[in-house]
Amino acid sequence: NRAHLTLDPQFTIGPVNRRLFGSFVEHLGRCVYDGIYEPGHEKADEEGFRTDVIELVRELGVSTIRYPGGNFVSGYRWEDGVGPRDERPPRLDLAWHSTESNEIGLDEFAGWLKKVDSELMYAVNLGTRGVLEALDVLEYANLRSGTHWAQRRVANGHPEPHGIRMWCLGNEMDGPWQLGHSTAEEYGRLAAKTASAMRQIDPDLELVVCGSSSAQMPTFGDWERVVLEHTYDDVDFISCHAYYEPKGDDYGSFLASGVNMDRFIEAVVATADHVKATRRSDKTINISFDEWNVWYQSRYNEVDKITDVAEWPVAPRLLEDSYSVLDAVVLGSLMISLIRHADRVTAASLAQLVNVIAPIMTEPGGPAWRQTTFHPFSLTSRLARDVALELKLDSPTYGTRLYGEVPLVDAVATYDEAGGGTTVFAVNRSLTEEVTLDIDTRAVGSVGAARATSLFDGDIHAANTLEDPERVSPRENTSVSVGEGTVSITLPPVSWTVLTLD
Ligand code: AHR
Repeated sequence: NRAHLTLDPQFTIGPVNRRLFGSFVEHLGRCVYDGIYEPGHEKADEEGFRTDVIELVRELGVSTIRYPGGNFVSGYRWEDGVGPRDERPPRLDLAWHSTESNEIGLDEFAGWLKKVDSELMYAVNLGTRGVLEALDVLEYANLRSGTHWAQRRVANGHPEPHGIRMWCLGNEMDGPWQLGHSTAEEYGRLAAKTASAMRQIDPDLELVVCGSSSAQMPTFGDWERVVLEHTYDDVDFISCHAYYEPKGDDYGSFLASGVNMDRFIEAVVATADHVKATRRSDKTINISFDEWNVWYQSRYNEVDKITDVAEWPVAPRLLEDSYSVLDAVVLGSLMISLIRHADRVTAASLAQLVNVIAPIMTEPGGPAWRQTTFHPFSLTSRLARDVALELKLDSPTYGTRLYGEVPLVDAVATYDEAGGGTTVFAVNRSLTEEVTLDIDTRAVGSVGAARATSLFDGDIHAANTLEDPERVSPRENTSVSVGEGTVSITLPPVSWTVLTLD
């Protein structure tokens, strides 16, 4: 099996925005409590944040972190999480059938973000609250001093505003599971009113309106159109959310999840541009793909979900998926899809960050470790360069149950316009066969050094666990050979690879 790729730095898709390498922290399960925050832990700092987790988050290379939800946000009163800790009320979290202690709120989280060197993207509650509460939290977070909520922040010990630029207008309002679930008309009106009111405080905010919870939602397409008809002039982004899991043993389709993500993005772009055309607008709405990952959602629904009316635990173990090599290859391929659409997907958040469908796991009082999915994310974040390239890729294909005939090899490349280096990210979706990828490098000039790292394993179900936290890690791919105007590399079956050419 051979696939062929031509690189040419003259053909570009667009700049790779660093915000593509964002993540998501929700008050859900053990993401915040017993995840990033565990005051009694031997590695906790003076504020109770685990320093081992901070180090891993920095290594992961996340640019922007969406907070505080997710479904959680639609029942959240942000005021509960600020001010003296002993006055903060515990509350029911209806989304995850838990108790929210409110020990961590906006101020603490903004402080933690400085430690991990990441930008805060804040979601307001448009499920059970509205315009006024959004204005209040914006004032609290971003205004310097002198008015009620800004002054409260100062009094709470935070004289400097948090300076949040990106704001999400609610979460998944198309989903029947969402508190305050709305029609596109209802949500579109509320989002438009909220956005224009927030812009009266600060016209330069970057606002994200909710798109569909997935491309499979019955309202998908119409939802985007109606919501954007209401909000087009007042927002900058529309969100996409997508989670993937294998159906039974249909790994062929699962490995092709990126095909679904590509189609999803292209459909939302087409819808946004349709609204642009009808409005004769000069403005372009981009995508914030602010929830994406592999998620074994069927296991949550069938096994983990808490339904007992008497049970409202604090920080229960929820959505703690253990990721395999197969999952990591799919995650790497989803990042390829995001970069391939870098012209229109200008922000994205891997959902989520710690313990909850996460690249980083922790044990209370114990260690923190990297899941298999940590590796393609951190390597992509570290090695993706300035600009995404338009590629000419010819690959053998295979048939899938869900997406028809798809390429065995998928790839994307980024180029460093100043330094001239190129990075290629590639997946081999074959369950059994290796594929040799021949890359035509004539247009990028001479290649001095070619280095490749691949993630693969004889056991595609191998995972990193508490007992064996380093079972799976990427290894050097020594099959790379550099010729005159060409580089070749062998991609093992079910593998993700990054190749740098300098
Ligand atoms: O990330 C887990 C959940 O998935 C989020 O809370 C919600 O927005 C989505 O349905």
